[in-house]
Amino acid sequence: MSYGYKPELSEGAIKCPIFQTSTFVFKSAEDGKAFFEVAYGLREQNTDEEPGLIYSRINNPDLEILENRLTLWDEAEDCAVFESGMSAITTVLLEFLKPGDLLLISNPVYGGSDHFIKKILPKFGVHVLAFKIGQTKEQIIELVKQSGHSDKLAMIYIETPANPTNDLIDIAGSKEIAKHFSTKEKDVYLAVDNTYLGPLWQHPLKIGADLVLYSATKYIGGHSDVIAGACLGSKALIKRVKGLRTFLGNMASPNTGWLLMRSLETLKARMDIQALNADKVAAFLNQHSKVEKVYYLGNITEEHGAIYEVKKRQCLTNGAMISFDVKGGEAEAFAFLNNLKLIKLAVSLGSTESLAEHPATMTHADVDNATKKELSITEKMIRLSIGVENYEDIIYDIEQALAAV
Ligand SMILES: Cc1ncc(COP(=O)(O)O)c(C=O)c1O
Repeated sequence: MSYGYKPELSEGAIKCPIFQTSTFVFKSAEDGKAFFEVAYGLREQNTDEEPGLIYSRINNPDLEILENRLTLWDEAEDCAVFESGMSAITTVLLEFLKPGDLLLISNPVYGGSDHFIKKILPKFGVHVLAFKIGQTKEQIIELVKQSGHSDKLAMIYIETPANPTNDLIDIAGSKEIAKHFSTKEKDVYLAVDNTYLGPLWQHPLKIGADLVLYSATKYIGGHSDVIAGACLGSKALIKRVKGLRTFLGNMASPNTGWLLMRSLETLKARMDIQALNADKVAAFLNQHSKVEKVYYLGNITEEHGAIYEVKKRQCLTNGAMISFDVKGGEAEAFAFLNNLKLIKLAVSLGSTESLAEHPATMTHADVDNATKKELSITEKMIRLSIGVENYEDIIYDIEQALAAV
């Protein structure tokens, strides 16, 4: 909670103030020159040298302290924070891909990521290849070889658990694929969107990921009052990410940094309650006669074989996201959503209040119909993000809304 902040540098204030400033005054021209040399990578930082504050697009105390705190959860060397999850994701993709490169992705990914990867990256000459849930390492390697661009594979981008189906992708297995296509001349990097389990419940960097990405709007922010993103990894890779961030100018604002620092103080307390509540809600849905199927990590058991092993290896809890198919179609799903009283009908996830939405027509509206069908994102699917309310209230609300279907 206090990591990285020195009250004596801020008039003794117990909490880090909002450094609402665009620029910082240098003590001398020599200092200014030295700060720029380090910030722009014109020379390495000396061991006894503190990097100086220059300009809030490059660095700001609220961002730097937040970044240092975020590294603790994932045990990362460094972190870069952004004004949205999408800006973290797009900056990473733009930094590590160039025209002609191949990007291998898991499917499904969040609708916004899906749009950028499939509709915008190809305009810059990037080839995109998606593998399917359940495909083995050998099958995926063969798929890459058959694409005709295997020598250009530059990055593997996965989202696990996947939004909204809770499908799991093997992180360590994906790293083996990345290694298979890495050469002396180039590393194939593995980036993992860890938004769905957040920094508490899954640590991709420890099991092979090179970069971990968050929509910090979700669990990290956790109060539905801020949009933000983060990327974590080695010092060398985050230096590249921060380099592009400086020139795209999509860093988080001081106010966003301050809000996220405040949120981090209750991250564990919030997420513990959310996971406990989700378990109770899933148990209720599992036995309900109007519910056809529940997509919840807790429902992946030993009898599911290999994917259960993946879950044991990488998920520390069952999370707080549950999707389910209501018996019927869009009309039944909408009746449920329109009858909720406590749970809010809104997109987003990981916040203190429970939320419900309809992926097929909302978060994943833009995903092409064939893919949606293949991934079970159908008209009868509802996605729930479970909050910190009393779980009996959440279940009561779901029960009465299902009764109205
Ligand atoms: C899994 C996942 N990744 C990325 C994003 C994008 O984050 P943001 O909305 O903060 O830009 C979202 C947003 O819903 C998400 O669910």
